Amino acid sequence: MGSSNNDYYLHLIVSSFLLFTFLPETVHGIKKCYIVYMGAHSHGPSPTSLDMEAATNSHYHLLASVLGSHEKAKEVMIYSYNKHINGFAALLDDEEAAIIAKKQDVVSVFLSKERKPQTTRSWEFLGLRRNAKNTAWQKGRFGENTIIANIDTGVWPELRSFNDKGYGPVPSKWRGGNVCQLDKRPRSIRNPCNRKLIGARYFSKAFEATNGNIIKPSMHTARDFEGHGTHTLSTAGGNFVEGAHVFAVGNGTAKGGSPRARVAAYKVCWSPEDEKSCHEADILSAIDQAISDGVDIINLSVGGRQAVTAEDTFTDAVSIGSFHAVSRNILIVASAGNDGPTPQTVVNGAPWIFTIGASTIDRDFRSIITFSDGRQIQGGSLSVTLPPNQAFDFILATDGKLANATIQDAQFCRPGTLDRTKVAGKIVKCMREGNIKSVVEGLEARDAGALAMLLENQEKQGRTLSAEPQMVPSVNFRHRGSGGRSQDFPYFLNASYYEVITATTPPSPTPSLTVKLSKATTVIGTKPAPVMASYSSRGPNKIQPSILKPDVIAPGVNILSSYSLGASPSDLQQDRRRFEFNVLQGTSMSCSHVSGIAGLVKTRYPNWSPAAIRSAIMTTATTRDNRNRPIQDAFDRDLANSFDYGSGHVQPNLAMEPGLVYDLHLIDYLNFLCASGYDQQAISALNFKRTFVCKGTHRIDDLNYPSITLSNLGSSSVTVIRTLTNVGPSGTYNATAKVDGCRITIVPSSLTFKRMYEKKTFKVIVQASSVIQLNKYQFGELIWTDGKRRVRSPITIRRRN
Ligand SMILES: *[C@@H]1O[C@H](CO)[C@@H](O)[C@H](O)[C@H]1NC(C)=O
Ligand SMILES: *[C@@H]1O[C@H](CO)[C@@H](O)[C@H](O)[C@H]1NC(C)=O
Ligand SMILES: *[C@@H]1O[C@H](CO)[C@@H](O)[C@H](O)[C@H]1NC(C)=O
Ligand SMILES: *[C@@H]1O[C@H](CO)[C@@H](O)[C@H](O)[C@H]1NC(C)=O
Ligand SMILES: *[C@@H]1O[C@H](CO)[C@@H](O)[C@H](O)[C@H]1NC(C)=O
Repeated sequence: MGSSNNDYYLHLIVSSFLLFTFLPETVHGIKKCYIVYMGAHSHGPSPTSLDMEAATNSHYHLLASVLGSHEKAKEVMIYSYNKHINGFAALLDDEEAAIIAKKQDVVSVFLSKERKPQTTRSWEFLGLRRNAKNTAWQKGRFGENTIIANIDTGVWPELRSFNDKGYGPVPSKWRGGNVCQLDKRPRSIRNPCNRKLIGARYFSKAFEATNGNIIKPSMHTARDFEGHGTHTLSTAGGNFVEGAHVFAVGNGTAKGGSPRARVAAYKVCWSPEDEKSCHEADILSAIDQAISDGVDIINLSVGGRQAVTAEDTFTDAVSIGSFHAVSRNILIVASAGNDGPTPQTVVNGAPWIFTIGASTIDRDFRSIITFSDGRQIQGGSLSVTLPPNQAFDFILATDGKLANATIQDAQFCRPGTLDRTKVAGKIVKCMREGNIKSVVEGLEARDAGALAMLLENQEKQGRTLSAEPQMVPSVNFRHRGSGGRSQDFPYFLNASYYEVITATTPPSPTPSLTVKLSKATTVIGTKPAPVMASYSSRGPNKIQPSILKPDVIAPGVNILSSYSLGASPSDLQQDRRRFEFNVLQGTSMSCSHVSGIAGLVKTRYPNWSPAAIRSAIMTTATTRDNRNRPIQDAFDRDLANSFDYGSGHVQPNLAMEPGLVYDLHLIDYLNFLCASGYDQQAISALNFKRTFVCKGTHRIDDLNYPSITLSNLGSSSVTVIRTLTNVGPSGTYNATAKVDGCRITIVPSSLTFKRMYEKKTFKVIVQASSVIQLNKYQFGELIWTDGKRRVRSPITIRRRN
């Protein structure tokens, strides 16, 4: 018996280290930045400086054996990863890389790829209250003394979010010393780091070595000139800051999820213009350093690469780095990606990563568009400064295009497509081009003299409305789409409005329509919420189909948080504005929320493993919205499912008292890799270079994950094993499980726990019936409850024959 999932892996079985090597077509002589990965260090988890020196020497030695001399090795070495991750980064040509790949002790050799870096109301929406008694903030002591690391674009240290007033000494577990690689501002007297922002480092060697992109010495600083890192770090661990607002919307107190946490910034992304400016070799070095510094949680903001094969597990810096972090008991929280709604787009799919998708909150930044014929539509907006009772001429971008611009380009208001003589003084309608950021349209509209812009979603953006720091007053409105249950979706008040726009697209002349725009306001308590964000990347998990990803969703739409004073809110060069706060979109923002929540759980339960913290947040998540109906997707009539939200929307208050957890440790992940068919020697390399014997009795499906996914069911029944650990009072839990068309038996169906940390194992026997359609996923759930707590796991199955 056993799961037929194993079949999937059989053909991926990698029998020698060599096959882990990912080499592009040989281009003779051109040096590129390669990462040579060698597993864990034999010096174990607590290296001395002598150990690290010895490790670096062994790296030089290995490299010298290929290049001919120690000097040559020194010349090309970019990083020696000598603390927790074993390996190095070096400038090599393809031939040299191939020779190194054959060396004993080398697990994989791969090109250092470039990655792109991927609040006020949101915390109340999650049920946290500053002055209440018993929310997760109080129970988790506001995340006090948890250390959250942010690997991102750096930090703007002088912001109020990072003020250390009232903080005690830096926790003794911090081993990062006083390293603070931040420049002082000209008139600033205080040290940029303090008891709140306890460390800052930058990692630029691979970026500089590969592109010949030399960074000015004055820019060798972890200071954030992009805004993303500051925003996410303050979302995870920023102080309470009163009076946060952008353009006068979103008034309130900004704060992080763990507002009393200590934070450390590791800057790995270097160019605000070029999104792909974060190098894997720099990221790996930052992770090695963060592990060494003694952080509790690493929030990894750089987008994962789309992994396509099982080998990617060992040729992906994020996957490798996070494995080492987790084996040192550090939780890695990473975003699912912003490439939804296409299926199979989820990244960071390894079972040791906590992978987060994005959804809306119950706050909208809104403006109402009123057309001269009475039709109205609600949109998302940060700022409308036009007089609300005055009507302005309306023009479609395609009607206002320059003669030399194509309709295709003009509809998106791409640079140099709008004709000033037609557009100036009017309100222009553009199609939204970017998924999570779309501000170039506003710049073109402004340059063409438009007074305001209406930004219409494409179909794939559905009804996710982004309020963005545009350079002209603007309102983003939903895709005009098919039908829609207007009572459910408050985004448009008058469905027949769409006829106006459809009738004139393209290129017939615009009817003489005028438009009024109401002032942008903040609306709180909108329903339904959460709704999936259209751009949140979706499952199924391509490379590990037996692991459901994303794991959970959290707020990621219109998130207000602190921002860098060294960057414009739109990140456009032409934008000279500077704000202490900004509203951003994306799974990065939701990821920071979960880092904050994890910080609370960690503070309350300092000894829990990363897997236990993740389990607590997953099993208490909800699949219902604030109307108590199933969470919707960003598209009309679509309900979201586990491939969109994983276990559901986080509920931090419940995560503080999960009752039971599904725990996992290093050995479980090693057994999982065995069951997945990875080479035994490679797996031993991960185990601090100690021999690890794959016993053949472990099955992928039995990894003690808080969700169950069987993507290859046949007609015979399949048994899955799970183990629960009691982390609450003693009591008896009963199980119920349901998947349409399946018979699910839980043995035993009742478990009594008498002691703290007591473990009990149970079986889930799944028998698919013949009524289930082949190759179609079915969604269900397993719930353990003691009458008070509810420990829920999504079950996803697919019958293949
Ligand atoms: C935000 O506060 C400012 C100043 O206190 C006030 O003028 C504005 O109306 C407020 N906006 C909202 C949406 O509450
Ligand atoms: C957390 O990770 C996400 C995505 O992986 C990233 O975008 C965000 O910037 C990070 N935030 C913090 C506080 O580290
Ligand atoms: C919807 O539009 C029609 C005109 O097309 C108008 O008569 C009607 O009053 C509008 N309804 C609302 C709620 O604005
Ligand atoms: C069209 O021509 C104008 C100059 O007349 C130029 O500025 C613009 O970039 C051109 N647009 C395109 C799309 O080629
Ligand atoms: C669990 O099941 C037992 C036996 O059916 C029942 O007596 C008990 O009340 C149940 N407990 C809960 C919390 O449902």
